[in-house]
Amino acid sequence: MNRRQAIGSIGAVAAATMIARPSEAKGEKGEKGEKGEKPALVPTAAGAHKVVPLPFTATKLPGLSEKLLVSHHDNNYAGAVKNLNAVELQLDKVTKDTPGFEVAALRERELTYANSTYLHERYFENLGGDGKPSGEVAKALATQFGSLARWEELARVTAMSLGGGSGWVVVAVSPLTNDLRIVGTAGHAPALAAGQPLVVLDMFEHAYALDYGAAHAKYIDALFANLRWDVIDRRFQAARK
Ligand SMILES: [Fe+2]
Repeated sequence: MNRRQAIGSIGAVAAATMIARPSEAKGEKGEKGEKGEKPALVPTAAGAHKVVPLPFTATKLPGLSEKLLVSHHDNNYAGAVKNLNAVELQLDKVTKDTPGFEVAALRERELTYANSTYLHERYFENLGGDGKPSGEVAKALATQFGSLARWEELARVTAMSLGGGSGWVVVAVSPLTNDLRIVGTAGHAPALAAGQPLVVLDMFEHAYALDYGAAHAKYIDALFANLRWDVIDRRFQAARK
């Protein structure tokens, strides 16, 4: 069994476990098309994105201060949501007569603010834990990278490579290829096509400078110590469905 097949097998086990849940058994057995099979599409109205509150108590994360976390949330993340709403409202006014360069610029900004919003929400959501890898995702990472220690080494050096500048480290699972990848990107917009983010690490200086100045290695230690593996595992299992 190769790595890809092994991860597929782990996902199949996870899916089987979920099928066995009593609350979902009815829909699986004979009510095709009923509620629960696929989530309905819920279009968000242009300019209507809301800021999601911090999903943890900001005073409780070792190595990451309340001042840093609240500033990051209220300024950088909330700023991305505000800008995403503003760009969407501008795009709502676009017509066939709008110059192409204006449309292209608006679309570029829309993608940047949308990804910034999406990644910040998943970044805050995967913090507040004890940093101890667990669940099916931990097995899948060990299978893909040889061991969990090797995965962590590669994720850490990717984060270190972005220190002093800006960027995201995203560990993603791809439904196109059934494998896991570590993506390091200096901006918000580049992403793995069809990749489902599992672990999201913010390496922009605004994420650590208030606490650590330019010492980004100490921030990376704090990030790994605060990862919420129950959330990361839930993302993995949802992506594998
Ligand atoms: Fe950020």
